[in-house]
Amino acid sequence: MKRIILVIGAKGMLGRDLMGILHSSFSKDEIIGWDIEEVDIRKEDESVTKIEKLGPEIVIHIAAYTDVDGCELDMEKAFAVNGEGTKHVALAASKCRAKMVYLSTDYVFDGEKGEPYLESDPPHPLNVYGQSKLKGEQYVQEGVKDSLIVRTQWLYGPFGKNFVDSILRQAREKSTLSIVNDQMGSPTYTADLAKALFGLIQFGARGIFHVANSDFCTWYTFAEAILKLSGVNRVRVLPISSKELGRPATRPSYSVLNCQKLKKETGLTMRSWSEALKDYLSTHRQLSADPGDR
Ligand SMILES: NC(=O)c1ccc[n+]([C@@H]2O[C@H](COP(=O)([O-])OP(=O)(O)OC[C@H]3O[C@@H](n4cnc5c(N)ncnc54)[C@H](OP(=O)(O)O)[C@@H]3O)[C@@H](O)[C@H]2O)c1
Repeated sequence: MKRIILVIGAKGMLGRDLMGILHSSFSKDEIIGWDIEEVDIRKEDESVTKIEKLGPEIVIHIAAYTDVDGCELDMEKAFAVNGEGTKHVALAASKCRAKMVYLSTDYVFDGEKGEPYLESDPPHPLNVYGQSKLKGEQYVQEGVKDSLIVRTQWLYGPFGKNFVDSILRQAREKSTLSIVNDQMGSPTYTADLAKALFGLIQFGARGIFHVANSDFCTWYTFAEAILKLSGVNRVRVLPISSKELGRPATRPSYSVLNCQKLKKETGLTMRSWSEALKDYLSTHRQLSADPGDR
């Protein structure tokens, strides 16, 4: 029977990749993509009524206020979208008896563990974005019977502003880039994450799963790899500390996610961040390198 699968946040960076995969893989189902123009999840009545009227079997909630420093400066908006907004979606999903999939973040952890975080490790966010996303997790866990929470990190992809494109753009404008070298994580390609999300849904997974490309690095190492793989060698990359960069939101110094549960329980594996990066650059950014940079 034809199911209705609703994606909220369908026009975001992950959303566009995910919509493509769902359309091709769940071809027998009806895939509906909404974003803020269709539903503002901050508005309880509007979102609950609209979702209930649609009556989806699966609600994939990936809408969020994702500007980490913006969240620090506008705490009210962060909690309204990521916390209360998620509560409204959970309420609607529960009324429809739908499965709810929610995207969360490595920033629910404080980075003090010093080794890859397990799904069962206690969260302790250092910034407002992480706190508001954790609030969202709690609403999903409390409000929806059949839920899947996927924590991921350091996303980049063809459909949104991201670190890879920002490094390539800056490399065209400057001869030296100063990049943070005291935060460890795993850069994750949205195309790989979207495939894993499809696999988890297909598998019927429930509970919390960590999903990121394998291996880890610092933003500095990542920047060096981006430039090297793009053939840009006239730009110097200087390692700096988070303190020197002075961003409003504190980030964990080590937020690598242990993704063993994904493999153990579903058989799904994630390739390394460097392989994924090579793929992204050759598929989507082949023409973006200015020959003058080489
Ligand atoms: N990006 C990362 O590195 C990262 C890391 C870990 C986890 N995540 C999580 O992964 C998910 C997808 O991230 P992403 O980078 O693809 O995000 P994104 O590109 O910022 O997309 C989020 C989408 O949600 C929409 N949205 C914002 N407020 C809304 C509201 N009140 N009602 C309805 N829609 C609203 C946004 O619209 P506007 O653009 O118009 O605001 C945007 O289209 C998010 O849940 C995020 O928290 C992301």
